This record gives sequence, structure tokens and C-alpha cells, in this order.
Amino acid sequence: MTPTPVLLDCDPGIDDALAIAYLVAEHRAGRIELVGVVCTAGNVGLDDTVANALAWLDLAGAPPVPVCAGAAGASVVSHVFTPETHGPRGAGYADLKAGQDHVTTTTPARLDPRNGAQLWAHLAHEHRGELVAVVTGPTSTLAQALDLEPLLPGLVADLVVMGGTFRGHPGNTTPVSEWNVDVDPEAADAVCLAWEDARRADTDVRPPLWCGLNLTEQGVWTPEHSSRLLAAADTPLTRALLDALRFYFEFHESVGEGYLAQVHDPLVAWMALHPGEVVAEQSHIRVECCGSHTRGMTVEDRRGHRDRRPNARIAIDVHVPGGPAAVLDEVVAAIASLA
Ligand code: RIB
Ligand code: CA
Repeated sequence: MTPTPVLLDCDPGIDDALAIAYLVAEHRAGRIELVGVVCTAGNVGLDDTVANALAWLDLAGAPPVPVCAGAAGASVVSHVFTPETHGPRGAGYADLKAGQDHVTTTTPARLDPRNGAQLWAHLAHEHRGELVAVVTGPTSTLAQALDLEPLLPGLVADLVVMGGTFRGHPGNTTPVSEWNVDVDPEAADAVCLAWEDARRADTDVRPPLWCGLNLTEQGVWTPEHSSRLLAAADTPLTRALLDALRFYFEFHESVGEGYLAQVHDPLVAWMALHPGEVVAEQSHIRVECCGSHTRGMTVEDRRGHRDRRPNARIAIDVHVPGGPAAVLDEVVAAIASLA
């Protein structure tokens, strides 16, 4: 079977690093072809998300894959970074420079001269009808790509977004907003509108899968996962990931979640590769951009007050015994297989 071409748009970011390693493992196993990585300003600035993505790809022994710099910040308002969550450079306690000294790949990842929006458009055309695009950071670059190539919704096979929160589940940034959406709600709303318009013209266009906190907060990585990963594979990659995760544990403990890490992004990357195992409901969503209390809220129109045509699939659960916890076991095994 021809491996599915996959594009990752990320803001590494500690849980993004797990998603990168997982996708490299799936590529090396021949189940997907990782055809591109776009870095977007998010948890930390664009320079750091680019440097981190290149370093994590090298540590994972990734194949030569185009890595492009995307949006340097939110599309309308000034960007808000989260050094307290992912560390001042976005890699927690991991010293990626030192880790890279042990890089074994002969072709270290290098920055492609195209910008992120151009890579989105080029890959969507090159892999027309086949590309699965995964966004684990703000949708700022995707919004730029939609400006560059308005036909994008009809070109990709699937779009899977880590963003928002649904079904009454509280936000992690404001009472009603999830961070990736909160930092650039205008971009997220532009994505919703683009797929709404595309589906009005062609109902065969697949509504994006939005994976919100209502599901991704069930992706809980614990020190036990870290011990298990290290026991299975003691490598510069796993040691750097565990150093990064130690910072993430301390952040979650500081906000009352316990000494653990909600690792949204690898769970979403897994869902992108296993659409048949995702329980999702078609719905219509827009993103609030004006409310003084609700800016960044993903507003689901479950009764079709505004538009009965769905422009989204809302991820509700995963159809595997053991649920999201079992998915993380698969992620651990996949990353360990890189050793
Ligand atoms: O709200 C969680 C999301 O924000 C994750 O993707 C995390 O990496 C941050 O980008
Ligand atoms: Ca992220």
C-alpha cells in the first residue's frame, strides 16, 4: 500500500516534539510518508520553533524532509508566548544543541527556502487528493496558505487540527478557549469559513477534524511513560524528550493538574493516521473573535441556527480498547522503535 503523504504544521513545543518523533517513526515503518514540516510561531517564537523542529527531526533520524518557516505570529493581534509552559526556548529542560552532537543522520534537516504557506500549497497540489495535513499549533500559517491557495480545502484529503474545546469542556487559556485557537482566533475562524465556503460549492470536500481539549486532555503522559520509554530505548532522542517532559510535568503540577503532562499533539497525530478509530460528529463551528469574555471560543452550532451544513468533524473519542491511554502506549512503542 502506498504510504499516506503527511504534512505537519507545528509549534514545538514539548508535546509537538512527541508528535514529530511519532510521525518520523511511522514514516520509518513505511506507514506514512512525512512529506513536509511547517513551523509556526506558537508556544515560542518562530526562530525557536524552527530550530526545535530541525533538532527533533535530526534526533529522531528523520529522512530528508522539507522544513519551512511559517507565520511569525498571530495574524491580527500581537502574539502571546508561553515560556512558562514549554520553557524559554520551547524544549523544557532539553539541551537540543548538546543532543544534536550525537546526531547520527548523515543529512541533517535543513530549512527549505520556501515559506510555510508555499509548502502547504505545493504539497497540496503535488499530493492532490492524498495529503493528510496535521496542525498542532496555531492555524496562523494555514490561514496564510488559504490566502495563497484558496482551493486548498478541495486539494487535501484530510485536515486534522489540535484546537478548540467542545461540548462544554473548559478552556486551558480562558474559561472557554484553548491555547492554539486563543493565540490566533482570526486565523482559526478563517479556517472554519474556508471549509464552510468550500463545502457550499462541493459537498465532497471533507470537513476538518477538530481535536479539542474535551478529548486531548485525556492524553496524559506520566513519569511511568517516561520510564517505560527510556527502558525500551536509551538514546539521545529519548533522553532529550524526557528532559523536555520533566519541565512539562512541573508546569502541569504548578497549575494543579498533578505531576503529569497532557500531551495533546501526539494523540492528534495518531488520530490523523487512524481516522477509522476516531469517534467524531459532524457539526458547524466558528470562532469568536470579539467577545471580551469569549474571544477564542470555538462556537459549535449543534442545532443549525446559523448554517446546517457541517464545516467540521468534532472528535469525541477514540475507538480503541483503553482509549487515549492506549494510544499513548502506541506512541511510546513507536518512538522506542526509532532506537
Ligand atoms: O492547548 C494545547 C496546545 O497548545 C498544544 O498543541 C500545545 O503544544 C500548545 O501548542
Ligand atoms: Ca503544539
